Amino acid sequence: MKKKITCSIICFLLLLLLPIDGTSAKAPTVQETRNKHGTREVIVDNGIIKVRFSSPQGLITGIQYKGVDNVLSPHQRTRGYWDIAWQGENNRGGGIDHVEGTKFKIITQNQDQVEISFSRTWDSGSHSRSRSHRIPLNVDKRYIIRANSSGVYAYAIFERLPEWPGFDMGQVRIVFKLDQDKFHYMAVADNIQREMPMDSDRDIHRGHAKALGYKEAVQLTHPHNSMFKNQVDDKYQYSCEIKDNKVHGWISNKSNVGFWIISPSGEYRSGGPVKQELTSHVGPTATASFISGHYLGTDMDMHYKSGEAWKKVLGPVFIYLNSGDDLLWEDAKRQAKEEVKAWPYEFVASSDFPSRRERGTVTGRLLVNDDELLTPGKFAYVGLAPPGEAGSWQTNTKGYQFWTKTNETGYFKIPNVRPGTYNLYGWVPGFIGDFTYQNHVNVASGSEVKLGRVMYKPPRNGPTLWEIGVPDRTAREYFIPEPYKNTINPLYLNHTDKFRQYGLWQRYTELYPNHDLVYTIGASNYSQDWFYAQVTRNNGDSTYNPTTWQIVFHLPYVNMRGSYTLQLALASAARAHLQVRVNNEYSTRPLFSTGYIGRDNAIARHGIHGIYRLYCINVPGRSLRTGTNTIYLRQAKGSGPFEGVMYDYIRLEEPSRV
Ligand SMILES: *[C@@H]1O[C@H](CO)[C@@H](O)[C@H](O)[C@H]1NC(C)=O
Ligand SMILES: *[C@@H]1O[C@H](CO)[C@@H](O)[C@H](O)[C@H]1NC(C)=O
Ligand SMILES: *[C@@H]1O[C@H](CO)[C@@H](O)[C@H](O)[C@H]1NC(C)=O
Ligand SMILES: *[C@@H]1O[C@H](CO)[C@@H](O)[C@H](O)[C@H]1NC(C)=O
Ligand SMILES: *[C@@H]1O[C@H](CO)[C@@H](O)[C@H](O)[C@H]1NC(C)=O
Repeated sequence: MKKKITCSIICFLLLLLLPIDGTSAKAPTVQETRNKHGTREVIVDNGIIKVRFSSPQGLITGIQYKGVDNVLSPHQRTRGYWDIAWQGENNRGGGIDHVEGTKFKIITQNQDQVEISFSRTWDSGSHSRSRSHRIPLNVDKRYIIRANSSGVYAYAIFERLPEWPGFDMGQVRIVFKLDQDKFHYMAVADNIQREMPMDSDRDIHRGHAKALGYKEAVQLTHPHNSMFKNQVDDKYQYSCEIKDNKVHGWISNKSNVGFWIISPSGEYRSGGPVKQELTSHVGPTATASFISGHYLGTDMDMHYKSGEAWKKVLGPVFIYLNSGDDLLWEDAKRQAKEEVKAWPYEFVASSDFPSRRERGTVTGRLLVNDDELLTPGKFAYVGLAPPGEAGSWQTNTKGYQFWTKTNETGYFKIPNVRPGTYNLYGWVPGFIGDFTYQNHVNVASGSEVKLGRVMYKPPRNGPTLWEIGVPDRTAREYFIPEPYKNTINPLYLNHTDKFRQYGLWQRYTELYPNHDLVYTIGASNYSQDWFYAQVTRNNGDSTYNPTTWQIVFHLPYVNMRGSYTLQLALASAARAHLQVRVNNEYSTRPLFSTGYIGRDNAIARHGIHGIYRLYCINVPGRSLRTGTNTIYLRQAKGSGPFEGVMYDYIRLEEPSRV
């Protein structure tokens, strides 16, 4: 008898403990409480996940899911948070602001969902004189938990009033630090996933790792698991272009649980579709990045002037958890597709987030008129971004951007555009330069703007004499050397992204020990003979020299009175100064000079591009000669290993036919 009772009690308890599946979904509840340390907490529970927030700060302190008490790190005080790196005008305040709220509020609570807010308003009076870590912004951090959903939606509304002091804002992101005893396998893409080292493996001071040439890169000399021995770890090896950055995260093989950050839209990010951002990295850490200088550097528009008003909704992103024996990555990709399909979410309460109905659509067809040939702008990137110069979207962090790709015949449709005034921008793989539509595009609520045929005429002054590379805004097609045996990331062996290996820049001095690269038109092959970056030369000690590359070409005839054009497109520049000379390596005045350009750091951070720059350089016929000619490309800065440029494409054009 007694045994039976115990059994039914146990059975009853077991039932309570059983993971609750979709079929028994319940309305989410919100509970305000105090934890065992006496600090205030808000707990939202939908029967599938249970999320704890510090209140009124609004940091996520715990996520309970499928029998895992907390997927977040028990060792980190801050483990699910927003942060902003900023600098006040005239050195007034700055640092890292975790944007802790001062007020908690329930925005929505019904059968289907809960939306809660942790907000903070900026008080100009009390902060204007003191150094402060609080950025002069009103911040409203929102979280949504829906019924029958294993995740949390996170977004924030940031606003500054014109009379508030100016600042630079270099980084805005959401960060999650996961439990390192559980999460060891990281996935960023189908072909970018692996078992990861531990955070402690990177510890230089304890002798677990050796510092390498750039701050974030270490060589794992004494890792906890010998399979990582001598591998390189660097979070920049896992960066990703925004257009591809839909889902990334971690798998716990032990608990059969996955933790994913899903970014359904690029509209709230900055810098356009090929801007690269960090994703997940050793920690285990997972981030959602909204604004950053990564692969842009100080060229990005990060300055918010006194007098300037600004408001932006960042997100929502979806923090998704899944479970099961296998295929968690496949399921995360499936969920990411669903989120993209559901965008713009209809369940967001903020009136600053327009619904689908309140947004507009822009359609058209892009044609390219190059070299007297009219062709469809196929598979081109077209997008709406704040008005500015051609290409300004690359560095714009303040406004919303809406991008798509044209189809094979050049047609495009940009859906779900927030009402506003934009420029239509674009570029077409295979052609140089930046497209902008001649007029502003005004998108009204619920409208469809039909632009019809829009024409892009890429820069060209005459027929092509020769060209190097392909115009795709990257240096992918050039020679990328093999990594050093003792600083390998095995993930990138035999991989389409060979360029993500550490230390490749050092190969230049080995490949060209005595003289710099010479490329002969008609004989050289850019995929073998054009090094992916024009870097500095190492002198064998810790000093470096500038390098001068040569392009040698033959002209059977020269139009002495004509103007030839050198179209020179850069895929990246880092603290560089590129000079162009023709047939006279040592002329004191170069034919053309870029001046000091770029801080995108793509060389140091294993990118294959940073910001795109195009120079149309006039080459007078009289500087050329019949027979052999040489163009000298001198990268004149040489104080360290990471100065240099990556070329996208180079073309010499004859004088125009007319
Ligand atoms: C809960 O979600 C699952 C998977 O998304 C779905 O199959 C199921 O029908 C949903 N249940 C309810 C009650 O909405
Ligand atoms: C962990 O899970 C991933 C993804 O399912 C799998 O590829 C990997 O081999 C697993 N690792 C271990 C050590 O079982
Ligand atoms: C491109 O899009 C247009 C407009 O939607 C459509 O009519 C056309 O069939 C599409 N072409 C291809 C090749 O997909
Ligand atoms: C490299 O990858 C290709 C395609 O994935 C595969 O066929 C080939 O066997 C791989 N080679 C090596 C050496 O791993
Ligand atoms: C250039 O080199 C690549 C890679 O080795 C090769 O596939 C290609 O055919 C070569 N091109 C020419 C024109 O020889």
